Amino acid sequence: MLKLTAFVALFAAGLVAAQSCPEAARFGTVSISPSTLSPGETYTVTADLQCSATLGYLPTYLDYYIDGSATHTISGPILVARRTYDSSANPPVDTFTAVLPDWYYFTDATYSFSMVNSFAKPGPNGDSVITSGSIAIPMNITGF
Ligand SMILES: *[C@@H]1O[C@H](CO)[C@@H](O)[C@H](O)[C@H]1NC(C)=O
Repeated sequence: MLKLTAFVALFAAGLVAAQSCPEAARFGTVSISPSTLSPGETYTVTADLQCSATLGYLPTYLDYYIDGSATHTISGPILVARRTYDSSANPPVDTFTAVLPDWYYFTDATYSFSMVNSFAKPGPNGDSVITSGSIAIPMNITGF
């Protein structure tokens, strides 16, 4: 009976852990600070890969981009950083600073910051294959 109780408790704990990591967070979450930037401004990027670790999507590489959309054509996305993920990072985060480059920004555009998580999974014959998934968050670009 005690064993069963312990098992049920473990199972419940597992459920709680799974619930705190929704599928939408499997590629990780990213934030930038500040999230309103002007060209030349330094900002901090923080990727939280706890849910990637929990759900089996720990990255091999992390690519970061700034992308814009408008009713007219915008060149881009801008590559912010291409990083090899340190799988021994504990806690599983990737943090660095970047500077918003001088570029052709538009006041009528909507900007977002995205992270592409490239992760390895075993294929049908067991060989490792890298595929990717991405997430994006809103940002503002002003003062250009
Ligand atoms: C973008 O700017 C608007 C207007 O100032 C603000 O309400 C919004 O929170 C900003 N968004 C981000 C991601 O900083």
